[in-house]
Amino acid sequence: MGGLVTSILVDGIGELVTNSPAVGDGLGLLTDAALVVDSDRIAWVGPSASAPAADRRFDAGRRSVVPSFVDSHSHLAFAGDRADEFTARMAGARYDGGGISRTVSATRGASDDELRALLRARVAEMQAQGTGTIEIKSGYGLTVEHEVRLLRLAREVTDETTFLGAHVCPAGASPSEYLDLEACAPHARWIDVFCEPASPHAFDGDQARAVLAAGRAAGLGLRVHGNQLGHGPGVAVAVEFGAASVDHCTYLSAADVDALAACDTVATLLPGVEFATRSPYPDARALIDAGVRVALATDCNPGTCFTSSMPFVIALAVREMGLTPAEALRAATAGGAAALRRGDVGHLGVGATARMTVLDAPSYQHLAYRPGVPIARLLDTTVRTSG
Ligand code: NIG
Ligand code: FE
Repeated sequence: MGGLVTSILVDGIGELVTNSPAVGDGLGLLTDAALVVDSDRIAWVGPSASAPAADRRFDAGRRSVVPSFVDSHSHLAFAGDRADEFTARMAGARYDGGGISRTVSATRGASDDELRALLRARVAEMQAQGTGTIEIKSGYGLTVEHEVRLLRLAREVTDETTFLGAHVCPAGASPSEYLDLEACAPHARWIDVFCEPASPHAFDGDQARAVLAAGRAAGLGLRVHGNQLGHGPGVAVAVEFGAASVDHCTYLSAADVDALAACDTVATLLPGVEFATRSPYPDARALIDAGVRVALATDCNPGTCFTSSMPFVIALAVREMGLTPAEALRAATAGGAAALRRGDVGHLGVGATARMTVLDAPSYQHLAYRPGVPIARLLDTTVRTSG
């Protein structure tokens, strides 16, 4: 007869990234480490040699263990394919948000079960690469009925759902027709707006303010897509509203950097987008050097970046934006948690949710050092029965 397993010892960890501020190297790095998981929480962390006993043991075999990645920005709820736009961009076409309407048509035409299967496959793809927390936006419905549907389906796979009714305004519609907070807010934790005066399809600063004010009044947390396609008011509006995060930040003025440094709005960088749209990368060094809290996320979506891989994003951040491997990993874990205002994920301190990722490598540096190699996977400590 199997007994109930309540605790698991993970030992033989060659290098453990805890992100604990108590260890002052930025990553809270321990070598020859172990940890104990009890009822899905981290109950003990320390040297392997002094680890307590537990009901079950997992030997990490000298590999590196890191907090699972927190992908704080994705658009997984969609149907259809826009590979042709990517190919056109590689031949010189520019992205302006116009393709979003193609995904809206394909998504409206998909059944609940088709979307459910697509969502589950994409979540599984992320998890297979070490991601443990996933935010998912709506935004490819753009009628009340279809936005509610996307949020409801996204809620089946994550608590971190975001109402992005203000993605683009469909031709002939007015945003007031589908930005229905009474219907959408119950299925969402966050509201987001694509604030981009440089796009003929997106929203300007005052429209973004109206969306955020309504979302706040409905009890939602605030996020902004800002400064992706050009300089503009996105960062300033996000800071003005105390948004949890402003995402993209590709085009920043000195005033934007100063404003971010003086508040706790996280700058979420999405370098997969610059990669897949052939755009200049954000000045991540200026942000970090100014003391801005930075997160990294995939932005997984069919238009500007169809990758589900946080390790790929980390590699881009190191190679193309000048982050150190430690800064990039921290942004992909603790940074993402801050962008979602979550204290329970993105670190492996005592009390944290037990979501950890094992690397088939001796050091976290391999995340950038071995780009494209599938070395990261979630460590499953959820098995509850033995015998
Ligand atoms: O984050 N910028 C707005 N939204 C997405 C792209 C959406 C699309 O092209 O389908 C983004 O890049
Ligand atoms: Fe996005």
